[in-house]
Amino acid sequence: MFAARWVLVSFVLQVLPLHVLAATTWSKVCTLTPLGAGQDDTDQVEAAIAQCGENGLTVFDAGDFNITRKMTWNLASARVELHGYLNFQPDIQYWLNANNTYRVVYIQDQASWFVVTGHDFHIDAFNTGGINGNGQPWWNYYTTVPRLDGDGRPLSLTVYQATRGRISNFHIESPPFWCNAVAESQDIIYDGMVCNATNTNPEFYGQNIVPNTDGIDTYRSDKITLLNWDVTCGDDCLAIKGNTTNLVVNNVTCRGGNGIAFGSLGQYVDLNDDVENVLMENLSMVRLDPSIQPNMGSGVYFKSFDATVNGAPPTGGGGGGGYLKNVVVRNVKLDNVTTPIHLYQTNDAQPGDAPSKYQFSDLTFIGFSGTAQTNTIVDLACSPAAPCPNMSFSDIDIAPPSGEAPKYICQNVINETGLPAPCNATGTD
Ligand SMILES: *[C@@H]1O[C@H](CO)[C@@H](O)[C@H](O)[C@H]1NC(C)=O
Ligand SMILES: *[C@@H]1O[C@H](CO)[C@@H](O)[C@H](O)[C@H]1NC(C)=O
Ligand SMILES: *[C@@H]1O[C@H](CO)[C@@H](O)[C@H](O)[C@H]1NC(C)=O
Ligand SMILES: *[C@@H]1O[C@H](CO)[C@@H](O)[C@H](O)[C@H]1NC(C)=O
Ligand SMILES: *[C@@H]1O[C@H](CO)[C@@H](O)[C@H](O)[C@H]1NC(C)=O
Ligand SMILES: *[C@@H]1O[C@H](CO)[C@@H](O)[C@H](O)[C@H]1NC(C)=O
Ligand SMILES: *[C@@H]1O[C@H](CO)[C@@H](O)[C@H](O)[C@H]1NC(C)=O
Ligand SMILES: *[C@@H]1O[C@H](CO)[C@@H](O)[C@H](O)[C@H]1NC(C)=O
Ligand SMILES: *[C@@H]1O[C@H](CO)[C@@H](O)[C@H](O)[C@H]1NC(C)=O
Ligand SMILES: *[C@@H]1O[C@H](CO)[C@@H](O)[C@H](O)[C@H]1NC(C)=O
Repeated sequence: MFAARWVLVSFVLQVLPLHVLAATTWSKVCTLTPLGAGQDDTDQVEAAIAQCGENGLTVFDAGDFNITRKMTWNLASARVELHGYLNFQPDIQYWLNANNTYRVVYIQDQASWFVVTGHDFHIDAFNTGGINGNGQPWWNYYTTVPRLDGDGRPLSLTVYQATRGRISNFHIESPPFWCNAVAESQDIIYDGMVCNATNTNPEFYGQNIVPNTDGIDTYRSDKITLLNWDVTCGDDCLAIKGNTTNLVVNNVTCRGGNGIAFGSLGQYVDLNDDVENVLMENLSMVRLDPSIQPNMGSGVYFKSFDATVNGAPPTGGGGGGGYLKNVVVRNVKLDNVTTPIHLYQTNDAQPGDAPSKYQFSDLTFIGFSGTAQTNTIVDLACSPAAPCPNMSFSDIDIAPPSGEAPKYICQNVINETGLPAPCNATGTD
């Protein structure tokens, strides 16, 4: 545990000194002002990035920039100051045409309308700008149309094949789908990110009509740092997916949704998902008014598919191998979450499936406090085909509903230590 933490801390220090963070004098400076109501800003945004996205500074003034088609920013030794919002028009049928989005995030064939790639860049949005996804018409639409992974709902900000980048003080309002994804990237720091997927249509009060509005999905990426996040959503606040390594998370508030996920893992039968060295600290789960967002699932939870392939990705799958190990989660405040710490290996499972061979081990949970909505405080349902070694707990002080006895479940767990009461190897929730 201590060795792991040392490794994690040492690389954060390496990535910080970016020359693009400084108030350098730039030889190329591009400044943009929104063209105004009814006008399309996409051309001027693309032209500015083409001119100043390499060795230059691009400054967006305050206001709404009307974006009507997919866009890639290829940034190299560049700084972007985004005082306003990139306002993506809610033309649902246009974006659902696969020709009109990028498909760079391999997992579940997700669509992107905005991709940032390159190296040595800093995008600062000053807490006054970012992306407006205009999600409400999308959420309304999908109350009558089935949602499927890879169905084309665009994710708002995709960082893809990027190295040494920093994104600061960035707001993503009303994302139709995942708020962020980082894929095939290294050394990326997000410092200050607000994602807010909140239904405001009274017709749907009391329901979660914002599924899949994950704060971020991390995939095939190394040395990612997430600092100072505030995520309001109806799904995974953070979703740590296959081949995420050396991830550091500090100071994250999750409002509603499922909580912080590791997974799903093992969806692709021919691809191992190897996740290791994760340190998460100072997390807070806040249950919202149930008329606005009814779910607040977990503090952290872990999920894999089982060993039987049921259908194919992006929607089905399973049978994939790999491991998740060396995860430390520390200092977590819980407000009435359903199952504070949860692990299961039966995602999308059918009766009669073979048990998962996906290997979870070396998970450490320190300093969890607050309240649970049920009396199941810890529910580790590891696979009989891959029991979980080294589940370590300390300072777990989570109150069940008043008058109920807390339950701790440890199926197929080897070497559990530190829970306030014995963990039941045959328990069920
Ligand atoms: C965005 O630009 C399109 C033209 O491409 C225009 O029809 C639409 O009204 C504009 N939207 C806003 C909010 O200005
Ligand atoms: C997408 O583009 C291809 C190639 O231009 C074209 O053949 C196809 O019809 C387009 N698909 C849709 C749904 O517009
Ligand atoms: C999210 O948006 C809703 C609706 O606009 C608003 O009421 C709420 O305060 C916002 N949450 C945060 C954390 O900004
Ligand atoms: C934690 O993050 C929030 C934004 O989500 C920020 O307002 C707050 O200042 C941060 N706290 C510290 C101690 O940095
Ligand atoms: C993860 O990395 C391992 C080892 O390099 C590789 O075999 C596997 O295919 C990768 N998985 C994904 C999802 O890229
Ligand atoms: C995070 O938690 C550590 C100890 O768990 C504490 O020392 C530190 O001040 C906290 N940081 C923030 C940003 O709350
Ligand atoms: C916990 O959440 C449930 C569902 O929203 C609610 O019925 C209950 O009153 C809450 N309990 C507390 C103690 O806030
Ligand atoms: C269980 O813990 C003991 C003591 O730390 C260690 O020697 C043993 O290898 C562990 N077992 C497994 C399967 O990890
Ligand atoms: C479990 O932890 C012990 C003690 O740190 C270590 O020796 C052992 O290798 C670990 N087992 C696994 C399977 O990670
Ligand atoms: C463990 O859980 C099983 C199934 O719920 C229950 O029958 C049993 O009494 C529990 N054991 C203890 C010691 O609580």
